[in-house]
Amino acid sequence: MNKPTDLVSSNEHFSTVLEARLSRRSLLRGGAATAASALLGAIGLSGCGGSDNEPVTAPPVATNPPEKLLGFSAVSKSLADAVVVPAGYTASVLYALGDPLTANTAAFKNDGTDTDMENRAGDHHDGMEFFPLSATGTASTSANDRGLLAMNHEATTDEKLSSHFVHPNGGTQSLPRPAAEVDKEMALHGLSVVEVRRNAGKWEYLKESSFNRRVHQQTDVELSGPVRGNALVVTKYSTNGTKIRGTLNNCGTGRTPWNTYLSGEENWSNYFIRGAQDNAARGNDKSVTSLNRYGRSQGAASRHGWETGGTEDKYARWDISKKGASVDGSDDYRNEMNGMGYIVEMDAYDKSKSIKKRTALGRFAHESAVFGKPVAGQPLAVYMGDDSRNEYIFKFVSSAVWSAADATAADRIATGDKYLDSGKLYVAKFAADGSGQWIELSISNQAIASYAGYKFADQADVLVNARLAGDAVGATRMDRPEWCSVHPGTGEIYFTLTNNSNRRVEPSGSSQAAPDGANPRVYTDMKGSSAQQGNPNGHVVRVKEGAAGSTATGFTWDVYLFGAEAGADASKVNLSGLTADQDFSSPDGLAFSTSTGICWIQTDDGAYTDVTNCMMLAGVPGQVGDGKKLTLSYPRADGSTLAVDSYVGKAATADTLKRFLVGPVGSEITGIAETPDGKALFVNIQHPGENTASGNLADPAKYTSQWPSNAGYGAGKRPRSATIVITKNDGGRIGT
Ligand code: FEO
Ligand code: CA
Ligand code: CA
Ligand code: CA
Repeated sequence: MNKPTDLVSSNEHFSTVLEARLSRRSLLRGGAATAASALLGAIGLSGCGGSDNEPVTAPPVATNPPEKLLGFSAVSKSLADAVVVPAGYTASVLYALGDPLTANTAAFKNDGTDTDMENRAGDHHDGMEFFPLSATGTASTSANDRGLLAMNHEATTDEKLSSHFVHPNGGTQSLPRPAAEVDKEMALHGLSVVEVRRNAGKWEYLKESSFNRRVHQQTDVELSGPVRGNALVVTKYSTNGTKIRGTLNNCGTGRTPWNTYLSGEENWSNYFIRGAQDNAARGNDKSVTSLNRYGRSQGAASRHGWETGGTEDKYARWDISKKGASVDGSDDYRNEMNGMGYIVEMDAYDKSKSIKKRTALGRFAHESAVFGKPVAGQPLAVYMGDDSRNEYIFKFVSSAVWSAADATAADRIATGDKYLDSGKLYVAKFAADGSGQWIELSISNQAIASYAGYKFADQADVLVNARLAGDAVGATRMDRPEWCSVHPGTGEIYFTLTNNSNRRVEPSGSSQAAPDGANPRVYTDMKGSSAQQGNPNGHVVRVKEGAAGSTATGFTWDVYLFGAEAGADASKVNLSGLTADQDFSSPDGLAFSTSTGICWIQTDDGAYTDVTNCMMLAGVPGQVGDGKKLTLSYPRADGSTLAVDSYVGKAATADTLKRFLVGPVGSEITGIAETPDGKALFVNIQHPGENTASGNLADPAKYTSQWPSNAGYGAGKRPRSATIVITKNDGGRIGT
């Protein structure tokens, strides 16, 4: 437990001290969890009541019967246009697209005419972290009634080019795009920080808070670490390669041990356009190899056509064709895309501090970035995934060793400089025998230095082109790594692999991959009459580090859960034995509660959505190796058989996995944060109604979703991404 730093902490200390004495490690293990948690529920929590902001009106009721993890009744699969949570819980809308973030910003009309998006909540709420605030408004690690939510605004809901819900009649669906539309869309992408508090028992956001902040595509962000100042990031805007405007397509998140926010830049590549003759313009140099590997072959179109907004630099930067005569790229934006694709660090408490892209952690389609358990005197490990089909899992290991005093360092971004700007980047290689290796991506590794596919100039080049470096060392191609999280008891690392339509028994072309131990399934799932190939439902793999902990270069692994329909073949597809109360598809968000130890799993699905909207489940996992070996056999066209060995964790039971929430129509469930006491859970509902056609904007009856207006939140009927807060009606911890 962290030492409380605020004035009000005496309120919650009884449970804090008790928890520390019981030892979290044993507490969170297997069967001990329920009993120990029940003890905390019955004894510990009776000591904490009230908050700093309100008088104690109704002390929490002692849990009776004693608290039991997953004690709630499972939520059924649902196609309703609503957030469904278990009986005994309440979900309330807290903060939605367009909500004002200053006292002077007009209320959101939600009819497409709203302006001033730089002072409003962005769109497509995604990863999110809670930063507690003391009663006096200082950084805290333990306050439960007031805090800052920092979150990602990944994207907008589009049909063709335009983000149609934020323009009066759907916006312009052809090129060129009007400047006013582009400005609005650029402002809706990025990050936000918003103050929230519990007031008379109800959570609210504070539009006038001085902590509120928006980061968007005109915000200066520093490049930090080995890539800073490198030739690969020289642009017309930053001729010395030290900064870029904005952070883009931010998806998963993380939180450092020194209380800052980490954000992963994911599908940034498709916002850029490349001219049809750009290979020749570049003299077919190695930058072409890099651009192709990161999804921008010549002639690639941009997602929104932002480059057509006008001649101003803020539009021109989205065209990454080589246009200038300079040798170094200081007269155009040929290198602009090399400034996107990083883990970004922000101090949510302090607007005066620079936001920094931590380039030492590599450049790819980042999701979350999660620290292994910090050990004093040892380097820190940060785990990450690259979410594209057949991409890799990575680990960063800091050069600096952990000093516990840094947990409460006054200058948090300087602390980030210390731990995140220097270290080693590794990529994962999984073996069929249940072991694995972390392979260092170093310019001094001969496989990288002499790689035939790309001539790396230096270590910065290895980091900017981490995918190519992973190719060079033969890393394992995964079924789209999304979030990861570390089990607070075992320290094992869980990675969601959301799905992969490019997994085949006999791959055709380099974009497809054959099944292997850690990605063992290839099957067909029917969605109505449409056959979905590969691994349509995804799985969750977990890794146990070797004895060296954060610096281990060897690990063991198994598959914690395979996503599947409950009725699917139990010998080939439903390998975790999921029942109707647990079945899910396409795990994406994943985070362990540091209060209860529950593993929250969120879905971003398109495979099972004929039967249910996306959902969130609560798991109580065991550990690597608690299940069994399996061998999957696949017939090949020539009559031979491909046998794939894998390892699956203990089958799910009603005590270890249960559906907790189902979202509105068309939404993805993503982003999860909690108060330190585990009694308020914040969850993001992303892109409800995303399949609404722009031609139907005039008729709300034709929207595929009207959430959250149909839940009583806000003006207009256009669907909006939003943060909800979940509380338990008896005041208990979430998931019990
Ligand atoms: Fe933005 Fe990989 O999900
Ligand atoms: Ca199906
Ligand atoms: Ca995601
Ligand atoms: Ca997703």
